[in-house]
Amino acid sequence: MKLTIVGTGYVGLVTGACFAEMGNDVLCVDLDAGKIERLRQGELPIFEPGLKEIVLRNVAEGRLHFTTDVREGVRFGTMQFIAVGTPPGEDGSADMQHVLAAARAIGRHMNDYKLVIDKSTVPVGTADAVQAEIAAALAERGMAKVPFSVVSNPEFLKEGAAVEDFMRPDRIVVGVDDERAALLMRALYAPFQRQRDKLVVMDVRSAELTKYAANAMLATRISFMNEMALVAEKLGADIEQVRRGIGSDARIGPQFLYAGCGYGGSCFPKDVKALLRSAAEVGEPLHVLSAVERANERQKHVLVDRVLRRFGPDLSGLRFALWGLAFKPDTDDVREAPSLVVVRELLARGARVVAHDPEAMERAREALGAAGAIEYADAPMAALERADALIVVTEWKAYRAPDFDRVRTLLRQPVVIDGRNLYDGELLRGYGIEYHPLGRAP
Ligand code: UGA
Repeated sequence: MKLTIVGTGYVGLVTGACFAEMGNDVLCVDLDAGKIERLRQGELPIFEPGLKEIVLRNVAEGRLHFTTDVREGVRFGTMQFIAVGTPPGEDGSADMQHVLAAARAIGRHMNDYKLVIDKSTVPVGTADAVQAEIAAALAERGMAKVPFSVVSNPEFLKEGAAVEDFMRPDRIVVGVDDERAALLMRALYAPFQRQRDKLVVMDVRSAELTKYAANAMLATRISFMNEMALVAEKLGADIEQVRRGIGSDARIGPQFLYAGCGYGGSCFPKDVKALLRSAAEVGEPLHVLSAVERANERQKHVLVDRVLRRFGPDLSGLRFALWGLAFKPDTDDVREAPSLVVVRELLARGARVVAHDPEAMERAREALGAAGAIEYADAPMAALERADALIVVTEWKAYRAPDFDRVRTLLRQPVVIDGRNLYDGELLRGYGIEYHPLGRAP
């Protein structure tokens, strides 16, 4: 099949590359000429395990192409994926200008049937707005009779596991209101569901809401566990044991129950805000979800609270090593990352920070700008030299089993504050390290 993907961000690029890998002819369109040129050279704008190999292979084999030419993009694919960004506007609602501009461009340049697929995370009602934009652009050209369909096909991939999630999805949600579109979507996804039927076909609005409801539910689990961790600590219980205890209940399930220093990334924070906003607009305020958001904001301060409890309110003259800047492992993404809050707060209280991350230091440097006394270390152990404590913010594999003898000798004070519960408290005590985990006894 011939597919056009508009937008080469996380979702667009992974979608384009993975469909090409399945034998489709794919043209990716982006207005950013520099990005398209770099992609043509095989340089990826993001770090994502396995993605580069797939892009290079499919470019070399002639199934994956890149262009800035919107007209060429519209003419190319029978299927037109809209995978552009929907960043939060000032009021928290998703900014739809790029989605609607893509729709208009499709209407302006199409001459025959197109299946338009919303892959971006978009508020309920967007498919109707896309439909209206295309119809209006066609009418302006006197081509109102050219047929097209608009479907919603939200993406559920996780950063760091994007290729795996795309290639082996739990389910494929397709919101569709006409038979022709449903048949095409079934054919497109046939190679991804050889073992069982993973297509969950529903109406368009339900598909749009499913995407928000899924992220909101996951964010709720995390905020719930984060609060349980705080209370477990005060009551002398252990959140890791509680997690195993409740996760083994089939009705609850074991995933997304890890307490930590707050959820971040480009999805949960943005989607929670957008859903709160949509619900308020229709007069149905979401009480549970608004508490989830507040709890997460508080959670991002939990590590600094621990630092203050241990070192007092004035941190001037102190130096902190920080492991992990990315909002989660296996990505270089620092959007809404808890690390940014931790760094800014430490610096504001006069501390120096030496940070390490296997992939995200460049992005963190851009996000933190001239934030002050922050340095970046080129190896985890190098960050520890003369530091008064180590703060673990992201659970990269490289941080899971450090040489604790070296950790103790490099640190000026052997204190480890762990935002992801990576270590065994007893083991660290054996090494003479003062350990502060979350939601369990030190
Ligand atoms: C999330 C969803 O998991 C995907 O299904 C969805 O497609 C995506 O958003 C999206 O809407 O595009 P992602 O943001 O890449 O994916 O990352 P997650 O693995 O979900 O992690 C999000 C945050 O939750 C991270 O900061 C992570 O550290 C935190 N988290 C996750 C926890 O604190 N505890 C957990 O148990 C799991």
